[in-house]
Amino acid sequence: MATCIRTTYSSLILLLLVSSAANFAPVTSSNLADEYLLSSQSVSRTTVEKQSHFRFYWHDIVSGPNPTAVRVAEAPGTNTSSTGFGALVMIDDPLTTGPDVKSKLVGRAQGFYAAAGLKNVGLLMAMNFVLTDGKYNGSTIAILGHNEVFSPVREMPIVGGSGLFRFARGYVQARTNSLEKSGDAVVEYNVFVNHY
Ligand SMILES: *[C@@H]1O[C@H](CO)[C@@H](O)[C@H](O)[C@H]1NC(C)=O
Ligand SMILES: *[C@@H]1O[C@H](CO)[C@@H](O)[C@H](O)[C@H]1NC(C)=O
Repeated sequence: MATCIRTTYSSLILLLLVSSAANFAPVTSSNLADEYLLSSQSVSRTTVEKQSHFRFYWHDIVSGPNPTAVRVAEAPGTNTSSTGFGALVMIDDPLTTGPDVKSKLVGRAQGFYAAAGLKNVGLLMAMNFVLTDGKYNGSTIAILGHNEVFSPVREMPIVGGSGLFRFARGYVQARTNSLEKSGDAVVEYNVFVNHY
């Protein structure tokens, strides 16, 4: 009962704070910005932000007749650099539910990675997870981050999203599942995405 009263009391305080903040909002009706600002209103969400955890297997296929990752640019010194510095690789990598590439396809990782480390193999990853399965079909998660591929776990930020992932934020953790001599790699991506 006491907890209940306290909760009601703090909700009231919150309400007062929110409404007094609204009172301090600048009056914009006579601003010139009215010509291009079509609306700006307070948003009170009735739904809470949730965090979804997905696990995808990311297949980077560089060998064979149908590669999903291709080098599109390089620097004059890329091939003699121990870290491949300067290489830019465009990808359209399958995302599946299991480490076997024949497991269920649920989306693709489209974008590029670039060898951005002079001393370490450190990739700049810039890719969208474009989901195609079930209710997520058409929704995307945008990832931009630093990927030191020989570290056991690499964390990269989620910088946004679309569809069901509008306003997304969060992070991914990448772990190499297998790396073949050919360069083909399977990476487990655990995606922790906050969205509404
Ligand atoms: C560097 O290596 C790549 C991949 O083996 C090759 O496609 C490319 O032609 C090489 N570039 C130069 C300048 O030798
Ligand atoms: C995903 O949506 C596209 C476009 O609406 C549709 O063509 C496709 O069949 C859908 N895929 C799945 C697996 O539902």
